[in-house]
Amino acid sequence: MFLDRIKPLDAILATAAKKSLHPTLSGFQLMLFGIGCIIGTGIFVLTAAGAQKAGPGLMLAFAIAGAICIVAALCYAEIASMIPVAGSAYTYTYSVMGELLAWTVGWALVLEYAVAASAVSVGWSGYLNGLITEFTGTGLPAYLAGAPLALGGVEGGFVNLPAVFIALLVTALLIVGTSESAKVNAVLVTIKVSALTAFIVLTLPEVEIEKFNPFLPAGVFGGLGTGLGAVGAAATIFFAYVGFDAVSTAAEETKNPQRNVPIGLIGSLLFCTVFYILVAAGAIGTIGGQPIMGPNGVPFPAGSEELARQCATYAAANLPLVCSDEALAHVLRQIGWSSVGNMLGIAAFVALPSVILVLLFAQTRIFFVMSRDGLLPEGLSKIHPKWKTPYVVTAITGVVVAVAAAFLPVGRLADIANAGTLYAFMMVGIAVMMLRKKEPNRKRVFRTPALWFVGPATVAGCIFLFVNLPLDAQLVLPIWAGIGLAIYFGYSRSRSHLGKGIIEVVDDIGGQETMVPIDPPKN
Ligand code: ALA
Repeated sequence: MFLDRIKPLDAILATAAKKSLHPTLSGFQLMLFGIGCIIGTGIFVLTAAGAQKAGPGLMLAFAIAGAICIVAALCYAEIASMIPVAGSAYTYTYSVMGELLAWTVGWALVLEYAVAASAVSVGWSGYLNGLITEFTGTGLPAYLAGAPLALGGVEGGFVNLPAVFIALLVTALLIVGTSESAKVNAVLVTIKVSALTAFIVLTLPEVEIEKFNPFLPAGVFGGLGTGLGAVGAAATIFFAYVGFDAVSTAAEETKNPQRNVPIGLIGSLLFCTVFYILVAAGAIGTIGGQPIMGPNGVPFPAGSEELARQCATYAAANLPLVCSDEALAHVLRQIGWSSVGNMLGIAAFVALPSVILVLLFAQTRIFFVMSRDGLLPEGLSKIHPKWKTPYVVTAITGVVVAVAAAFLPVGRLADIANAGTLYAFMMVGIAVMMLRKKEPNRKRVFRTPALWFVGPATVAGCIFLFVNLPLDAQLVLPIWAGIGLAIYFGYSRSRSHLGKGIIEVVDDIGGQETMVPIDPPKN
């Protein structure tokens, strides 16, 4: 009885049709947009956590996570181009599986976007602190530079002040209506790709084959819930690919989408996969990337207090890769390219805030749509009279993101974000298949090729990565879902506009809106 309240697709599409965006993007532009959203903290920072979980097997981990993201991206592209309105996976689920499951997806997307924004903020902070240390000879005091040790932060850590600063700064920019133009994105992509290219070019000639031995010090499967082994690392560095779902929402603006959407999506993901594997090879093959083992011959968990204590015993000059907060800059400095290492640090410093911007933006839009659907308090979707932005929800989100960034280490945040993301991706995979069955003749701008392979592969891949996350990150999802369900049944269900018989399709802030009265559902 709770799987009712399906938002009629016709009403959604009627709104979308009014938008009549002119398709202007080429496959290459879509790819550029994708790379801009994707490359961030995952490769610049989580390389260290990934190596602690898998050692050189991190390269395999990048391939596994990349392959799962490619099938998920193909599913996203079909449904995003078919239902091109704000709200992403939340809206798709609302129109296929009904309000309750849509709520769970919207709720899980908070983990994807808000917690991921916290993770990238912490990643940015690591690079900032590295640059301060390089240029002044001393870094920020430990109590201002990282999360508490007990939460997997640093020895003497209390609060990650730079991470709080950048999260709040980006929030303020969003409130006054900053959005990233295609030109700025192109510049930032060039900066990021140049930095990674320089890294690869300088490290690969220095690679020593013996650094890859043993290749899989924690095996392929490190054990369910341990987060170890190549698949455990894949579940963590999956984060490095998150963001491509933003690309699929641009599918409707793409010229010749059947051809260009796969070029843009698969192109950007393949490009990143190859780059990531080469970067991992360059990092591990030069300074080594074996995990720090515990007394029982099993790697200490990444982001654990034990590992932080072990890392504190090394002098900065010979810090292992797995301990570094700014892994890639650290590698370059270690192999004698300090100035290029600093430039790479500056590249991360300049480019990572735009990833935070994209993630926070996506989060506020999801909350906004949920609030306009009556599922969250309406005050949240208030628009600022001057800046025309949903300032209330943006400010609240920004503060929450800043608090999480203040007290949790990057690896933990990324794992939690991944748990929510994997749930949302799985639901998208299911929704695409259900929609093919329910509405086989509806127009699809882009059809996922081989859906009956790609769809199940997406669902299976997401479940596979989820069970290979560390247990504490896995547990966050049901606990978070429990809180969400309590809110849904205690607050949202009785206030839902659809439940009251009003179909409201919100396209965007201050944009199109269609309201269609219908017969109220019978429960
Ligand atoms: N993929 C993005 C990153 O790695 C979220 O920062």
